[in-house]
Amino acid sequence: MPSNAHSLFPFNTFGLEQAADEVVILHHRDQLAQLAQFAGSRLVVGEGSNLLFTSSFKGQVLVNRLKGISVTETEDAWRVTVQGGENWHELVCYCLEHGMLGLENLALIPGTAGAAPIQNIGAYGVELSRFCEQVESYNWHSGEIHVWPANECAFGYRDSVFKHGAREHLILSITLRLPKAWQPVLGYGPLAELGDHATARQVFEQVCATRRAKLPDPAELGNAGSFFKNPKVSQAQGEALKQAWPGLPLYPAEGGLVKLAAGWLIDQAGLKGTVVGGAAVHQQQALVLVNRGGATAEDILRLAELVRERVNDHFGVVLEPEVRMIGPQGETHLDEALACLN
Ligand code: EPU
Repeated sequence: MPSNAHSLFPFNTFGLEQAADEVVILHHRDQLAQLAQFAGSRLVVGEGSNLLFTSSFKGQVLVNRLKGISVTETEDAWRVTVQGGENWHELVCYCLEHGMLGLENLALIPGTAGAAPIQNIGAYGVELSRFCEQVESYNWHSGEIHVWPANECAFGYRDSVFKHGAREHLILSITLRLPKAWQPVLGYGPLAELGDHATARQVFEQVCATRRAKLPDPAELGNAGSFFKNPKVSQAQGEALKQAWPGLPLYPAEGGLVKLAAGWLIDQAGLKGTVVGGAAVHQQQALVLVNRGGATAEDILRLAELVRERVNDHFGVVLEPEVRMIGPQGETHLDEALACLN
């Protein structure tokens, strides 16, 4: 690492040794006014739990550590406003402890509250968009604060406006609306076993147990959660695949499409445990690529390429990364990052 560069090791859960020209930690809103003074590339990170730094970053990494939770109450709902740097799982615990229910399916998702709307985090049948009322952001070009009602956030499957047109925005806070009339969401396999009278605490415990059994803790084994998205294919392709592989999990998706379980495809292609350098396909959940220790970005990229190729050879389905890739100037994608290696 050049002597004037700053390590990104604490700011990416893959545990990669990459560097940035500058790292700024944002603790207070009164630091916002200074942001306009930096004219180069900027990347905002929370805990870096959905990022792969494919190289060093030639710009400023801004780490959101804004803290605070405030709650107001209406007759039928709690409104919880959370500053962007709060840890997501701690928020889930806080709400549960204070009887504000609904977030339990989203327990143990790594990362911050401010990062949650960017990819519209989701697990076990619930996505953030179900509760998100508004997102407050700071546009560092115009110096203005903007409030995005949920219907302007373009929430989709692991997607939102913040991945596309609104990249010069730093998420200051999110406001969640948690209805007092709580209904458990028990559609997902291990939760269905709880039965209709399940309490929020039981759902929370079951989600935590399921995640701990399958998903590696980034503090122990570097990773960024699901590396690929579950791919959507046409109904006809889905049915043809199901005929050939009756065990294939299929889920209905919008627009007459069907969603396939990428983890199943990778597993059935015989890739669990596959190693490239310090990177490996996780044994308990094939959708997760892990840093076994000492992995480089190149190891992870080469492994991702191999997984994508083998799944395509086997099933004729092209997987797309779910993890965001960050190259020297900012957002990049798998093919561009691979081309830079050659
Ligand atoms: N499967 C296998 N082998 C594997 C992995 C999965 O056969 O190695 C099968 C499972 O048995 C199941 C199906 O594939 O029938 C789906 O697996 P799982 O329930 O583990 O969920 P997923 O589709 O792999 C998605 C999300 C996760 C989220 C879980 C639970 C994406 C890309 N991933 O994973 O989100 O926790 O559902 O809702 O949508 C993340 O975004 O980082 C993440 C971890």
